[in-house]
Amino acid sequence: DAAIFKFTNVACETYNKSWVTFSQCRLKAVSRDRVFLNIRAYIYYPAHRIMVRGKIFKRANGYKPWLYDKKVDACAFIRQKSNPLVLLVYNLFKDFSNINHTCPYEGEQVIKDFYLQQDLLRVPLPSGDYMLTLQWYFDKKPQFDTNVSFSFVENIIS
Ligand SMILES: *[C@@H]1O[C@H](CO)[C@@H](O)[C@H](O)[C@H]1NC(C)=O
Ligand SMILES: *[C@@H]1O[C@H](CO)[C@@H](O)[C@H](O)[C@H]1NC(C)=O
Ligand SMILES: *[C@@H]1O[C@H](CO)[C@@H](O)[C@H](O)[C@H]1NC(C)=O
Repeated sequence: DAAIFKFTNVACETYNKSWVTFSQCRLKAVSRDRVFLNIRAYIYYPAHRIMVRGKIFKRANGYKPWLYDKKVDACAFIRQKSNPLVLLVYNLFKDFSNINHTCPYEGEQVIKDFYLQQDLLRVPLPSGDYMLTLQWYFDKKPQFDTNVSFSFVENIIS
């Protein structure tokens, strides 16, 4: 399998340290084409109403908005798993995290040694560099961002 699908950058930023802080937000390259993403966040008070604004950018002389810019109700999604694009992203990382439960969210949230697996990417994606930005809202107010960049190179050998 000659495809490359790996993280190239990550950024986490809280806007309200009395609700959410990050103790870890980083990448670790373990081989040429596998990069682990590790995030540790702490939520100090239960979050019952969570919205996520997801945007996908594709790089072409700087990142350009591409395909997707939507706000999703995270609590409704985690109950019903009904949004196909969100489900695709969720399926990529669910086995690496402790967020597989319904709202509220409180305490330590962990994503550990998460790497991208092309066989879970069940949509055609043009080769390129992408950025997925997630802006998280609790009680309708922005609390933090988690933005990741990744590169995808199609299997050129098959
Ligand atoms: C995440 O991306 C958004 C654009 O969707 C940007 O406004 C924000 O500054 C970024 N946050 C970080 C921590 O890079
Ligand atoms: C920041 O977090 C505190 C503690 O949970 C909360 O009471 C407050 O409303 C939050 N501020 C904003 C602007 O969301
Ligand atoms: C966790 O995920 C699995 C598979 O997606 C699901 O079957 C299970 O019910 C989930 N567990 C909880 C507590 O949500």
